[in-house]
Amino acid sequence: MEKLLIEGGHRLGGTVQISGAKNSAVALIPATILADSPVTIDQLPDITDVRTLCHLLQEIGGKITFHGNTVTIDPRSMVDMPLPNGSVKKLRASYYMMGAMLGRFGKAVIGLPGGCNLGPRPIDQHIKGFEALGAKVTNEQGAIYLRADHLHGARIYLDVVSVGATINIMLAAVRAEGQTIIENVAKEPEIIDVVTLLTSMGAKIKGAGTDVIRIEGVRELHGCRHMIIPDRIEAGTYMIIGAAAGRELLIDNVIPQHVESLTAKLREMGADVQTGEDQMLVSRCKGTLKSVDVKTLVYPGFPTDLQQPLTSLLTQATGTSIVTDTIYGARFKHIDELRRMGADVKVEGRSAILSGSSQLEGAKVHASDLRAGASLVIAGLIARGITEITGVEHIDRGYDHLMEKLSGIGAHVWREQADEADIHENLKHQD
Ligand code: EPU
Repeated sequence: MEKLLIEGGHRLGGTVQISGAKNSAVALIPATILADSPVTIDQLPDITDVRTLCHLLQEIGGKITFHGNTVTIDPRSMVDMPLPNGSVKKLRASYYMMGAMLGRFGKAVIGLPGGCNLGPRPIDQHIKGFEALGAKVTNEQGAIYLRADHLHGARIYLDVVSVGATINIMLAAVRAEGQTIIENVAKEPEIIDVVTLLTSMGAKIKGAGTDVIRIEGVRELHGCRHMIIPDRIEAGTYMIIGAAAGRELLIDNVIPQHVESLTAKLREMGADVQTGEDQMLVSRCKGTLKSVDVKTLVYPGFPTDLQQPLTSLLTQATGTSIVTDTIYGARFKHIDELRRMGADVKVEGRSAILSGSSQLEGAKVHASDLRAGASLVIAGLIARGITEITGVEHIDRGYDHLMEKLSGIGAHVWREQADEADIHENLKHQD
């Protein structure tokens, strides 16, 4: 087990290259199960969640070849092997194996997914969709069993706007017989990316990016080549770093429209954000940062995944800021850690209330989930002295070469082996 150490207070500048989107990659990889010839995916991020999913595809018989950030997945010898335990438990996105295997084999057994602990994360809308398409779904000893003699099109209304349910139902529906209409769907860019891949594979899908997706089922899907969109959450994280400690931090390979809600907030705080075609230049403002209120919403609203990173920046703003998470009301495990570092912040219901600005001090803190980790990295970059972050495995699930990218822009950051005391502390946090 390793820990991440950061010596804060250094001004950062230069260029940071954004990788392919994690939340696209984790859906695109299972989507390849539906093809009957090899699929090549470019700009794959080098993160643990991607490696885990590739491993799962190998477990069911897929042949996988890597060339740098390109992967070719040959799904021809895949079989409908049950996956009730093991790697499926390591990440949330293993739920996409349900839709993809159901779509290809008419059956699947998938252990209930793991991933970040953000409070309750039900999958009832996914299941409702699978059932509407003709599957029988049961929960047996912590694994979901899906069986369908015949998948057919259906009209499905999502009670909750869900990224996962939208994608999972599409995966099951693209090879079902007839027309599927999914209403009240999510509009995140990652959904459009999955639709782009499925369309290149031969699927017939209309309406991605709107509230209603219409699918005309096809009998077969074929291989293709696809490039993953840039990771808007990774880009957003570095934008926040630029606003916190940047002297002209250039963020390269970003789609500026995907981060508009963050750009607006950073400008409201007084940071200097300039937008190019696929680049953004962010610098800390000359004067003091201003407090702002933030409410997370589905896309194109402010993303819940950037709420935790932004909170660290808000500790530096003068005045009171209120951060409300309407998507995951309990996504505040980073707050106690920020308090240890000297932040004046408390949680009330679904909101964190901050009074600033505070001088953050380096401390020993724990990353309880991926974006909590990003939040603590940002706090560490701002703080005086050295911050030690345990729970690095959560950060490695979603940030490609974080340490190298940070070092490249002038941060003082390194890894050390965690000692007995750190591991003990880590286990205490997992209770
Ligand atoms: N929900 C339900 N029932 C369902 C599905 C969702 O009630 O069947 C609720 C959730 O509890 C939540 C809301 O609907 O309150 C939205 O959840 P959604 O399904 O959109 O989330 P997800 O698909 O499980 C993805 C990302 C998350 C990101 C959310 C919201 C992946 C693998 N994960 O999760 O990313 O926070 O969308 O945008 O795509 C992260 O990257 O750190 C991360 C957690």
